[in-house]
Amino acid sequence: MDHATEVDILRELLDLQARGTPFLDDSWVTTDVQRYRCAEVFARERAGIACALPQIAAHSSQLPGSGAFLTLELAGKPLLLVRDEAGAVRAFLNVCRHRGAQLVGERSGCRRRFSCPYHAWTWDSGGSLVAVPHEKSGFPGLQREAFGLHRVPCQEYGGWIWVVPGGGAIDVDFHLGDMAADILGMGAQEYEVFACTERDTAANWKILVEGGIESYHFRVAHRQTIAGLFLDNLSSYRCFGPHIRSVLPRSSLPELRDRPEAEWRLGRHANVLYTLFPGSQFLLQEDHFVWIQGMPLAPDRTLLRIATMVPKLANTPANADYWRRHHHLTSVTLEEDFVLAEGIQRGLASGANAQLNFGRFEGALARFKNSVEEALARGA
Ligand code: FES
Ligand SMILES: [Fe+2]
Repeated sequence: MDHATEVDILRELLDLQARGTPFLDDSWVTTDVQRYRCAEVFARERAGIACALPQIAAHSSQLPGSGAFLTLELAGKPLLLVRDEAGAVRAFLNVCRHRGAQLVGERSGCRRRFSCPYHAWTWDSGGSLVAVPHEKSGFPGLQREAFGLHRVPCQEYGGWIWVVPGGGAIDVDFHLGDMAADILGMGAQEYEVFACTERDTAANWKILVEGGIESYHFRVAHRQTIAGLFLDNLSSYRCFGPHIRSVLPRSSLPELRDRPEAEWRLGRHANVLYTLFPGSQFLLQEDHFVWIQGMPLAPDRTLLRIATMVPKLANTPANADYWRRHHHLTSVTLEEDFVLAEGIQRGLASGANAQLNFGRFEGALARFKNSVEEALARGA
């Protein structure tokens, strides 16, 4: 983000703070609770959103060199990501082409060949079938080239490895649109994963996204942790297509009034949260960022991955305690959000609410809802 944009954002927030009002939409809106619990809605979202759009599957540093691999499940697809001999990342379905066994069981590792644990059909890192035990007697005339691993569209972009789980074309730059400059500007390729936590969470994926894009709850829900660090119910956001950039000013924001604009730095006085549609969030802090990945498993279940991303040059043993403290504070704070989200999910079935309500200062939630509906309409 260039300095002029930082100053514009800070000026807008200072103005709101001076007027004692949060950023307000024209009206408040409601949303039907069925969209958080209906199996048919979830199936449409999986086909039209999770499978159809580019999604982050890993950070580039998680596949550090030729032969490095990792496995994961995304949008119901078991995936195998491999860095091939030439250094390019490839994605395959992690499924044997003989009788369908799971090809690789480990979460990560490094190897040049992938041999099925059932009967040892074997592929190289480019996905070509290179060995079939007793091939001549068992499979006469087998055309090996017809039994390469099933490819999944994959692109390394901005320090991240993206896939389209359901197949088709992949163009991350197009997907990010006007958000691309900010994401490239983060220089994520200069970072690596310091610590990563996974949480199987009993809540719909949209409730979890919604919990991150308003600051209305800070003073209440986070009163034991970070509430004092932020101004009450003051934030701004901007949409870039379906993606959202939220800015959450810290308590130090008013100090800027006494300083020349040339000295203003957004990162010193606010946290920036990028919500990349549909499932990735980056929470920028002063010297590192947090990567939150939401992977929907069922209408009422989402696997969350929370990673503390630190600059490679600063990821030293001497700094380990410092980063560990950050990861701990992030985990404790987000846990407050996740427990609330699980409570919402449990309450949905009670019949207490046919609809939920988004206030005028929770406008980002309404935008996110629109993005989901638009993506479903496109895929219909
Ligand atoms: S199922 Fe994989 S080799 Fe038979
Ligand atoms: Fe929160």
